[in-house]
Amino acid sequence: MNKFSVAAVMAAALMCGTAHATDLEVTHWWTSGGEAAAVKVFADSFDALGTDKWVDGAIAGGGDTANPIIISRILGGNPMGATQMNTGRDAEQLIQAGLMQDLSEVAAAEKWADVIRPAKLMDSCMFEGKMYCVPVNIHSTQWLWLSDAAFKQAGIPTPTNWNDYVADFPKLKEAGILPMAIGQGWPINTMWGSLLAGIGGLDLFRQVNVEKNADAVRGPEFKAVVQALADVRDATESNAMVPQWNDAINLVIEGKAAGNVMGDWAQGEFAVANQVAGTDYECLPGLGLHDVVDTGGDAFYFPKNDDPEVTRAQLELAKLLLTPETQVAFNLKKGSMPVRGDVDLNAANDCMKKGLAILANPDNVLPTGDQTFSSDTQGQLQDLVLAFFADKSMTVDDMQAQFADIVASAD
Ligand code: BGC
Repeated sequence: MNKFSVAAVMAAALMCGTAHATDLEVTHWWTSGGEAAAVKVFADSFDALGTDKWVDGAIAGGGDTANPIIISRILGGNPMGATQMNTGRDAEQLIQAGLMQDLSEVAAAEKWADVIRPAKLMDSCMFEGKMYCVPVNIHSTQWLWLSDAAFKQAGIPTPTNWNDYVADFPKLKEAGILPMAIGQGWPINTMWGSLLAGIGGLDLFRQVNVEKNADAVRGPEFKAVVQALADVRDATESNAMVPQWNDAINLVIEGKAAGNVMGDWAQGEFAVANQVAGTDYECLPGLGLHDVVDTGGDAFYFPKNDDPEVTRAQLELAKLLLTPETQVAFNLKKGSMPVRGDVDLNAANDCMKKGLAILANPDNVLPTGDQTFSSDTQGQLQDLVLAFFADKSMTVDDMQAQFADIVASAD
């Protein structure tokens, strides 16, 4: 059979619906209770299409562990069928190297440009006018999570913003409650970003993370943010530091810790524990200091491969991820906001409703560092924040000066 007849047979097979079942390996780092419940929505919906099978490739340890594994598999010629990554620049070198499927035809057929909001989310997936990923959610990072039971036990009202919360630390300690639980590694950097937006404000966040303005980093407003991180560092005892982000949230769920700063994916853990926002726990976007959400989140990428059946299954999955039903079911479990603005969110809990109301005003919406900085710059900044948090002898001035140097040469 020559290559034209092979193509004709393949096209006929597809048209007659005789596509072969394909096992599609999908990698992601959704391994906590809430995350596993959310990714199951995608897996079950894909299997329910009746043709192919979702082969789950969960990678434990969070994005910092998973990203290098995902990237090296693709570069090393052992690609998975599909993979989650953060919406942003982490995959840009893979796209530039021509290793990712072009999804432009599905995007046009399904009219993604008409339904995805904010429109800027599409930009993170575009390269030279073509679409290379499917954003599946909007995850915002600047949230403070508080346990009502912990504050009740300490005999004080649950605070409504970061400043009042920090002022409560001594009373919480007296009552035998950890003021704040903190996950090791990247969660410290998440707290840093939240302080930058919450205490520094949206303008400062934009000057630093979007304009990459090193002079803004050298200024007094930025210094106040570093000081806030130093205050937490100096008040944190070693028993407050736990291995993973969800270990910290679990301490809040149990009322053993009063609070934690974490992205809105924390909601998935509260939901699995059957806790109710406004009754068992409080969620304060922008640390209760500013109305702010960011357009972080997750996107699915589809590495190129040699098998037309895998490509067909990839495109099926790409389409499915953005159907209205999948968007609603997945995001309700994940604690994130759907990227589609045209879906029914009556079932949203109080936290998601707060997020959606903030998202409705474009002035409140920030990009994430994943979207504005290259992976290399993100890594340098995170290393500095973690080093500062680990070393009480590192001064605020030192941290500020080193941060300014990185921003001055950031790409
Ligand atoms: C992802 C979330 C995930 C979180 C913790 C973030 O980078 O965007 O989807 O829940 O990491 O694993």
